[in-house]
Amino acid sequence: MRIKIFSTPHAAARSLAHEVARALEDNPRLVLGLPTGRTPVPLYRELAALSQARRADFSRAATFNLDEFAGLTGDDPGSYRAFMQRHLFDHINLPARRIHFLNGAARDEGAECARYERAIARAGGIDLVILGLGANGHIGFNEPADALVAATHRTSLSAATRRANRAFFDHRARAVPRHALSMGMATILHARRIVLLATGRAKAHCVDRTVNGPLTPRLPASFLQLHRDVEIWLDRGASSVLDRVNRP
Ligand code: GLP
Repeated sequence: MRIKIFSTPHAAARSLAHEVARALEDNPRLVLGLPTGRTPVPLYRELAALSQARRADFSRAATFNLDEFAGLTGDDPGSYRAFMQRHLFDHINLPARRIHFLNGAARDEGAECARYERAIARAGGIDLVILGLGANGHIGFNEPADALVAATHRTSLSAATRRANRAFFDHRARAVPRHALSMGMATILHARRIVLLATGRAKAHCVDRTVNGPLTPRLPASFLQLHRDVEIWLDRGASSVLDRVNRP
């Protein structure tokens, strides 16, 4: 795992936005996997600025978001689809038809998950997936469990994850859906390149376990150690426990 440490969350976001712009230059048909959450918001702000300055061109790219709440349509203000629209899609030159999302309101969730896997395969697979890190070590909505699910699937959200997502629902944890649809661990690990972005001290222990801990379904992010092209982008806060452990 290659680790990059930046002085601030903003510095990490800026640098990652430039990295995405470079990847788009190398491959204008780049297929991106994208996360939601507070962490990527500064990254999306930077990408919007680069797109508006014509320094990042999304016109031939495609995106696949990692996850969506079950039961919500894309125009529900609490949906991740709406979040992405507000923070990124409304501000970049990415054609709507190349934005891919799980439909949380699909009546047949199994069919919806299978459709998503097929759409990713038809796009040629994901070139670069950017991940956030849940405070309990989840990625996408692959929650800590006895076993992890490989493909895109319906999943139950832990109480902690529902609490962490309450900001999307007027700070009412009870309003956060109990289930979600999420790319599976294999879907994520099949991406050609993975960048995990984590900022803030609250993530520091989890980052340390992700990098130095054993592979365990109790910390889904630890499975990223299996991938041959994974980078962990951190600010000082998120790297603070790593620093301590790795210091000679
Ligand atoms: C949600 C998302 C994850 C994200 C996590 C971290 O639960 N499903 O994909 O990584 O939140 O959120 P934050 O960046 O707000 O800490």
